[in-house]
Amino acid sequence: MSIETFGPVSSTRQGQVAVIRIDNPPVNALSEPVRSGLVAAFAHANADAAVKAIVLTGAGRAFSAGADITEFGKGRSGPMLFDVINAIEASPKPVVAAVNGLSLGGGFEIPLGCHFRVIANSVKQLGLPEVKIGVLPGAGGTQRLPRVIGVEPALDMITSGAPIDAAKALALNLADAAIDGDVVVGAVAFANELITKGAGPRRTSELTIDTSKLAPDLFDKRRAALGRHPSGPVAPRACVDAVEAATKLNFADGSKREVELFMECLATPYAKALQYAFFAERQAGSIPGIGPDVKTRDIKSVGVLGAGTMGTGITLAFLQAGIPVTIVEMKQEPLDKGVARIRETIEANVKRGRMTAEQGAMIAKSLTPSLDLNSLATADLVIEAVFESMAIKKEVFGKLDAICKPGAILASNTSTLDVDEIAASTKRPQDVLGLHFFSPANIMRLLEIVRGKATASDALATAMALSKRINKVGVVSGVCFGFIGNRMLESYGEEVQAMLLEGVTPAEVDKALESWGWAMGPLAVMDLAGIDVGWRIRKEHAISDERRRLYRVTDAIADSGRFGQKTGAGYYTYGSDRKRVEDPGVTAMFRAEAAKQGIEPRNGIPTEEIIERTLLRLVNTGAELLDEGIALRSSDIDTVYLNGYGFLAWRGGPMWQADAMGLAKVSERIKFYEKKYGERWKVAPLIERLAKDGGTFSALDKAKAKA
Ligand code: 3HC
Ligand code: NAI
Repeated sequence: MSIETFGPVSSTRQGQVAVIRIDNPPVNALSEPVRSGLVAAFAHANADAAVKAIVLTGAGRAFSAGADITEFGKGRSGPMLFDVINAIEASPKPVVAAVNGLSLGGGFEIPLGCHFRVIANSVKQLGLPEVKIGVLPGAGGTQRLPRVIGVEPALDMITSGAPIDAAKALALNLADAAIDGDVVVGAVAFANELITKGAGPRRTSELTIDTSKLAPDLFDKRRAALGRHPSGPVAPRACVDAVEAATKLNFADGSKREVELFMECLATPYAKALQYAFFAERQAGSIPGIGPDVKTRDIKSVGVLGAGTMGTGITLAFLQAGIPVTIVEMKQEPLDKGVARIRETIEANVKRGRMTAEQGAMIAKSLTPSLDLNSLATADLVIEAVFESMAIKKEVFGKLDAICKPGAILASNTSTLDVDEIAASTKRPQDVLGLHFFSPANIMRLLEIVRGKATASDALATAMALSKRINKVGVVSGVCFGFIGNRMLESYGEEVQAMLLEGVTPAEVDKALESWGWAMGPLAVMDLAGIDVGWRIRKEHAISDERRRLYRVTDAIADSGRFGQKTGAGYYTYGSDRKRVEDPGVTAMFRAEAAKQGIEPRNGIPTEEIIERTLLRLVNTGAELLDEGIALRSSDIDTVYLNGYGFLAWRGGPMWQADAMGLAKVSERIKFYEKKYGERWKVAPLIERLAKDGGTFSALDKAKAKA
């Protein structure tokens, strides 16, 4: 069997069928050489008189993950994907897509441009996720998909960006066949049948869309329903506009409209931020000095100590990833309660269709509750989630050290305590690290992986690999109070308190920040998480007089037993529907305290100032963390904020925002506030240094990566 190669695209002949294969690891992204290769391979197959039909597939685990995102914004070279797909569709010989693996974005638009689609039953991800990176399908997807599956299902897929699996594709008439076994063999057989039947091409662009049953206000309603879309204000709307164009214009004109909308979206800051966030998340997985040569440890079973809020969430995260867990408590009652909570969540997931009853039963079976610490002797990893007290943690780690097998990783979920001090209570500090989960731990994607002074490289690499297995985004942090996320949050929270004392109301702060780019305002978040959490920490830790002064009213609110939603009142009051209701009593408390502190009340604070002050406090502390080496890169800090703190991805993250503002301006504004408010606004030396040389955080990241 002879193989012709066209760069990363190859073509072999199996009888009368040419099998064209994209081979561009790891995910067959459609970079320029692939696009050129496809054009050449199709021209070659179409010119070969012995070829009567063509099968197109991908090598490895992907059919294709779509356009090469790294090429965006770099200027065009080679054929456009749009033209490549049109050329495939124009092929005079029938073209069958053999969808062997994930097929996303442009990598899904190609099968839509093929005449027939045979999909492997094992494929889990088919779809158009472009909206998630701030654009819309720009290679004919918005015009072809409604022609294949109908307008409403196409709108659902394109505006959500959510993938479907092979079974759903079959149900939607997207697949001509969904098969087990080798999909290329199946597709070649399918192509041979076409040849026998004398079937010609079936071009999607020539299909008509039945609009007779569409509600006249369908598109307006869809636009109105987009609300606070996670992809920001432009791309989701453009997705609806493009599908609407498919129903009103012919294929050529609709496609032109699609390209215009694509270019509009691509130029927005939201698209740039979302694409940055995509790569930032992947970049977080690479740790300087830890290459592929570092062998990770085998993690087949996990022990969790403590069945409270965090212990149960952590247990669920592992069980759902198919990793068995032994959960240990001191007493029967909290153990029973925790196990009941875990079982209820599994049952609820089955009811909601997130897993089958069999999967639920299997997961539940892989949980072993215990009151005996010795049952952790064989665990490969033990995560401690007991009370936040250094004395208790040290005692627990001392015991774990004696019980656990050699090489087991011992992790703490502490949110504030010194991981090095905890590690020092064992004789194996190299096996100790922090695994800082966020509540609810089975849902929140962020996992801060805290590297102690003595943490071994392979223990860290194991934790990073594990974060992927349990569907989390792992970000490495050094040891400091609050690690990356909470240390920055302290500065942010402080500034919010300062503004409340200056006369803005909690609702005004929350509204300003939610309208800008936070999933939830800071005071609503504190009410949700419990005002008592920070109140306890401020009681037990030495904090600056400034911070104590700023938090005086909040501490008084907590003193009065108002802990937030769980007590029905905090900064707001809550009825049975859990909706926030403003409380004039709280505003009055801030007014009275401000008068005592001699703070002149302002008549509200402009939204821009609320946004700027909170953002710059985050950025300033972020810069300190970079200088101290606690955070490895600014993109890690953004990844923490996007995945653990509700900073919306289309805003890129605080450090990304600072770069967009320009660090000279950032420095100037921080100094302005320092003059006004003093020490808490002292500008971070790193910002000064970068501002002086016209630098950016992202250029610093790149320079570090090269070094
Ligand atoms: N372009 C460039 N690189 C890509 C890429 C893409 N479309 N998709 C993935 N990669 C890279 C990743 O950056 C990563 O590189 P690294 O190893 O150097 O860090 C590598 O491929 C593997 O990716 P993941 O680590 O994310 O692997 P996973 O198995 O976890 O996920 C995936 C695979 C589901 C394909 C995920 O990477 C993904 O969602 N990719 C983006 C898909 C997408 O958005 N496609 C649409 C592109 S836009 C488009 O097609 C426009 C068109 O309409 C014109
Ligand atoms: P929790 O109070 O809900 O649960 C702690 C559990 O540990 C209790 O059930 C208790 O009975 C058990 N326990 C105490 N000592 C034990 C021992 N020696 N052996 C076995 N079990 C023991 O506390 P929560 O909120 O789950 O916090 C646990 C840890 O997670 C703390 O270190 C906390 O700082 C950290 N954390 C908490 C977050 C949160 O949002 N609640 C977020 C991130 C970290």
